[in-house]
Amino acid sequence: MKNLLKTALFGVVSTAILTHTAKADIKSFFKWEVLPSKYTEGTVPSDPNDELWSMVPGKYVYLYPQISVRLTDAQVNKIIPKKRLQKALVKVVYNSENIAVYVKWKDNTPSIQPVYTSNAFGDGVSIEFPNEFGKGKTLPYIGMGDPNHPVTVYLQKTVAGRDYEKVFISEGFGTLTEIEENGVNIDMKYNKATREWVAVFKRPLKTENSDLRAGLVPVGFAIWDGNQHERDGNKALSRWKFIRLKQYPLDKDYLEYVSWGDMIHKEGDPKRGKQLTIQNGCNACHRYADQNTAPEDMAPNLSDIGGIAHAPYLKESIVNPDDVIIKNLNPNRHYNKFVKPDKTGAYPNNDMYTWYIKTPDGKLKSKMPSFAHLSEQDLKDIIAYLKTLRDWRNFK
Ligand code: HEC
Repeated sequence: MKNLLKTALFGVVSTAILTHTAKADIKSFFKWEVLPSKYTEGTVPSDPNDELWSMVPGKYVYLYPQISVRLTDAQVNKIIPKKRLQKALVKVVYNSENIAVYVKWKDNTPSIQPVYTSNAFGDGVSIEFPNEFGKGKTLPYIGMGDPNHPVTVYLQKTVAGRDYEKVFISEGFGTLTEIEENGVNIDMKYNKATREWVAVFKRPLKTENSDLRAGLVPVGFAIWDGNQHERDGNKALSRWKFIRLKQYPLDKDYLEYVSWGDMIHKEGDPKRGKQLTIQNGCNACHRYADQNTAPEDMAPNLSDIGGIAHAPYLKESIVNPDDVIIKNLNPNRHYNKFVKPDKTGAYPNNDMYTWYIKTPDGKLKSKMPSFAHLSEQDLKDIIAYLKTLRDWRNFK
């Protein structure tokens, strides 16, 4: 395995002058974050039961309960902290035209959404690809993109009597636009004997919206368990994973960017990092771990940020908060009761709970101030701390 990895990296980065740290980051990144794939001259399978899948190597991807954005369902919000980590086996096959992503996960209670009720929910699964990625492009918000980084989402749900598969372009919560994409095929099957769902998402490598013909392709996963009332933003969510397509060149700058800080636990001091988050007032807006004094919904809850975010994304969030603007779900459920209600008796929204402002030229600006003034070591310590928040490598 070690040798394999060395060969995989050789032609790519041997010419670049990389520091010892960057090399260690890349090695760790390949081990933990990169999904293998199989190239075939033949057809790319769309059937979850196709024999080819048994010959394709897979890797586990971990999914966390989505808690960054709080939902409006009080009952569901109570269950969320007790939820466990989900894991899914992922396999990838591609040829010169198409790519198929196979996702298999355990679910002891397969549920199908009846058509005519609103309080029973079906199981579901989705994958997403950034519409743009590669050299010079920063990672999108994992919760289905953001205004600066639209993503394409492929979704399959179990709804009685209907093949419920959809493709969306999304810029974050509440911004899904359904689209038609030619050549897309999604299928999902339950195996009663093993109590597992298997879904296969097949699409052309290049569509109108994104071109996946690259050496390293970011992909995100979400799973809904209908039996646990999961729907919409209430789901299990992975962090960005990266599919290695060996038929295409690996951009060394992009590799260096996405792997930065993969060994941050060796470089940063999480204890000092936690103190720095308190000294810098992160806890005035965010809730995380035992820091729970910020008003709920002022900012994303960071309690599982180590699980759903990579170090370079965290760095970008801290030094350049406007790069990723997270659209919070339904901020207008907080009303401003200090002013008069309108004619219909409704109080206006309390803008304190919207996570961004709109500038006069229509651009969105984060309400989080930039912390670009922090020293490189302070940043590393803070990121090392944030990465301890539910990263599955040390998830309990
Ligand atoms: C004035 C309030 C405020 C302060 C102080 C603040 N943040 Fe934020 N933060 C926000 C808001 C609002 C967002 C969501 C909008 C956005 O994406 O910028 C956010 C987003 C983030 C994200 C992205 C979260 C995600 O789920 O992707 C991270 C990470 C983060 N902040 C870390 C920090 C750290 C670390 C500090 C302290 C050094 C800090 N924040 C201080 C308000 C704040």
